[in-house]
Amino acid sequence: MKPSPLLSCELAGTCSGCPWILKLYSDQLLEKKDRFLRRLPRGGFLPNALHDFDIFPVPVDHLRDRADLVLETRLGQHTLGLWDMGRKTLLNLKACPLLTASLESWLIEFKNDLPSVAKGSIRLRVNPQSIKGVWLDFSNQDIKRLLEEGDWLERLQAKAIVEIGQKRKRLIRKEDRWALGDPVLFPWSETYFFEQSLPLFTSIGGFTQSGPQATQVLSEVFLKLLPEEVPSWLELGSGSGTFTLPLLSAGKRVNAVEMDAQALKGLLQGAAHSGISALLSTHLLDFNGKKDTLRRLFEENRGVIVDPPRSGLGNLVSFLTELIPSQRPDYFYYVSCWEDSFVSDVHGLNELGYLGTRLFGVDQFPQSPLFEILALFQKQY
Ligand SMILES: C[S@@+](CC[C@H](N)C(=O)[O-])C[C@H]1O[C@@H](n2cnc3c(N)ncnc32)[C@H](O)[C@@H]1O
Repeated sequence: MKPSPLLSCELAGTCSGCPWILKLYSDQLLEKKDRFLRRLPRGGFLPNALHDFDIFPVPVDHLRDRADLVLETRLGQHTLGLWDMGRKTLLNLKACPLLTASLESWLIEFKNDLPSVAKGSIRLRVNPQSIKGVWLDFSNQDIKRLLEEGDWLERLQAKAIVEIGQKRKRLIRKEDRWALGDPVLFPWSETYFFEQSLPLFTSIGGFTQSGPQATQVLSEVFLKLLPEEVPSWLELGSGSGTFTLPLLSAGKRVNAVEMDAQALKGLLQGAAHSGISALLSTHLLDFNGKKDTLRRLFEENRGVIVDPPRSGLGNLVSFLTELIPSQRPDYFYYVSCWEDSFVSDVHGLNELGYLGTRLFGVDQFPQSPLFEILALFQKQY
């Protein structure tokens, strides 16, 4: 690959958002690939899978459709941005080469009028139709004051859809005052079945992958690894459906397990919107909690897909150990953005008789050491 130039950013080398920005992109990819392959357990994957392993690049800039920022106000001075590498100083973010052009414009517009809040978190989003959103995660005291004062929220509401607090309630007008209404799910993002886009219904504060361009590559690679012969999948941690909707579009039956009720509601809304709900069943469930339903779901599906949080599979490996081999799924499809937990879980899966047969990466976190891992394991006995 031809070395790509370094990204230009005035915070390069200091901002924790892009710890690898001073490395050439071609070197970043090589380093991720080499480090990862060295860490995998010996014999954990078929030699062919390791030989074919590659990390698919995505655009190195302008790919993020959401920005998670910290706001601090000291002596009337606002700082809105990200922490420095040492996580001690908050850096003022005037622009960011990782954001899509429309999100960068929204950041610049938002910064022109900031509220007086000692400290809070803010997520800015722009959806594929260029609709702007903001999620304000402030203390209850600050929220109460801003609702009572009203002026700043009124100006903000004129620019974007506003969501407030951990319950992600919508800012609404109630007679002559501002109030918190029920959460509303909205197509803030999208996933893909080849060229076809499938809207994902979430809250502004809800989980989505890093942006549409990366999700397009991710869904394509996801489908590439999917074994044709499995008609029905148990998906643990489905979220609002980045992988569920392409699976349903491919004619697969999916039992989606998720513990976030809002995400599950969004999944149902997204599947209905795209007219692909017929093969979908949803289960509001903690896959590390009580095992009765999970045991039944494992017995009913030959394939399991997991895209867990950073902590990895957790108790799932010991749960698999408790099942007799014939009850264990033939295929275990593991998606992960966290190398440490993935590598440790591969050891557990190997001990249970699973061998990795296909392995790819998608570099949806350029300028950082992270990437998304997609690995298919097959039961050997
Ligand atoms: C990394 S996200 C992936 C979501 C989905 N694959 C996507 O791309 O939108 C992990 C998801 O797993 C869910 N999750 C995490 N731990 C869980 C658990 N113990 N039981 C059920 N769901 C869980 C989270 O709520 C989240 O939606």
